[in-house]
Amino acid sequence: MVELERELFAPSVLRDGRVVTIRPLDELDRQALLAFGRALPQGDLLYLEDDLANPEVIARLINARFAENWRQLVASVGDQIIGYGALRRLPGWSRHVADINLIVSAGWRRYGLGTALAQAIVDAARDLQIDKLIVEVIETQRAGRAIFDRLGFQIEGRFCSHACDRQGRRHTLIVMAQRVR
Ligand SMILES: CC(C)(COP(=O)(O)OP(=O)(O)OC[C@H]1O[C@@H](n2cnc3c(N)ncnc32)[C@H](O)[C@@H]1OP(=O)(O)O)[C@@H](O)C(=O)NCCC(=O)NCCS
Repeated sequence: MVELERELFAPSVLRDGRVVTIRPLDELDRQALLAFGRALPQGDLLYLEDDLANPEVIARLINARFAENWRQLVASVGDQIIGYGALRRLPGWSRHVADINLIVSAGWRRYGLGTALAQAIVDAARDLQIDKLIVEVIETQRAGRAIFDRLGFQIEGRFCSHACDRQGRRHTLIVMAQRVR
């Protein structure tokens, strides 16, 4: 697979008129993705599946940018990354299912970027020939729930004390799902 020119991707206009680009993660994003991860609010880092403040994790994500069962998108402004979204096919008997991760820089929230990035990830699922999408959300993460609810996802599971954050506290986890085809 080859890296596509960033200029090929159509810009998205946010609610306040700012323009961002949603495009696949590429090799030149290494430093910008780390800076994005390091600037995330401490509270978000507690729950992230991949620790985006860790250079080794960033290296793994960049190396996986062409992985067959994985799609990674970023939202960028110039050389700065302000959002990250990923779609990963599950293994084994759930190989027709993919799970979603989504995160936006604190200073860029409430302008529609999370919704635009989530929609781009859902669109990428067709390319991966996925039948079902799931997203795991901590019960108190109202923004994440609102976005996927709006995109037509429904709650399929609620697991008490199921998610353990990096400080060892337990949280109720909600699994939301949507059929793709
Ligand atoms: C979830 C997240 C990506 C949303 O990003 P965003 O750019 O703010 O999303 P949008 O601007 O598209 O907001 C979508 C809707 O979510 C809801 N929402 C957003 N922030 C909210 C908050 N703090 N409290 C309650 N609802 C909120 C609103 O309904 C909002 O729509 P509105 O502004 O039209 O009312 C961002 O808050 C984030 O990165 N959170 C931490 C990680 C996370 O929870 N990820 C989701 C699970 S993978």
